Amino acid sequence: MNDLVIYASKRGSTKEYAEAFARTQGFPILDYQELKQLDEVDRVFYFGSVYAGKLTGIEAVSKQLSPETEVAVISVGLTSGKDTEKLAEIQIGIQKEIPQAQMVHLRGRLSKEQLSFPEKMLLKILNKASNKGAETELNKAINEVMQAGKADFVQLDQVQMIQL
Ligand SMILES: Cc1cc2nc3c(=O)[nH]c(=O)nc-3n(C[C@H](O)[C@H](O)[C@H](O)COP(=O)(O)O)c2cc1C
Repeated sequence: MNDLVIYASKRGSTKEYAEAFARTQGFPILDYQELKQLDEVDRVFYFGSVYAGKLTGIEAVSKQLSPETEVAVISVGLTSGKDTEKLAEIQIGIQKEIPQAQMVHLRGRLSKEQLSFPEKMLLKILNKASNKGAETELNKAINEVMQAGKADFVQLDQVQMIQL
């Protein structure tokens, strides 16, 4: 069985989870930008950070997958498992690209100082869009970033939940 861990991370939290998982399993690991082909790979563990509801690198990864490849997709975002609607939106997007995906969601981290001006604007829009209904864990996390400067939910031992 040939296994491969692939990660697509902009600010490092997704990469940390992918590295922790690869280390505990003894699997090779690759940045999605270095991905060329997956012909010899039976199982892929793809860790992608969530930006505006979508996984970084998902098209590039899905393009290389064959329907026979077993795939676990691990989304990493500020959304919590309790935000069922938000999580469903993310997971519907994943399933459209990778129908055979087994999905796990993990919570990430964000610092205000890392944000560009357009990203701050985008976060405000996301926050307002989420505020229409009940307050979500995503709202709380975005407010924490804006007010306290940082929200950090990374728990590397959560990678134990991932299996195929
Ligand atoms: C502009 C922007 C948009 C984001 N959109 C979402 C989102 O839609 N859902 C979510 O759960 N997290 C969202 N996040 C939070 C990131 O997914 C979170 O910080 C994640 O840990 C980033 O992973 P990385 O450190 O590997 O880049 C957003 C962050 C930024 C800066």
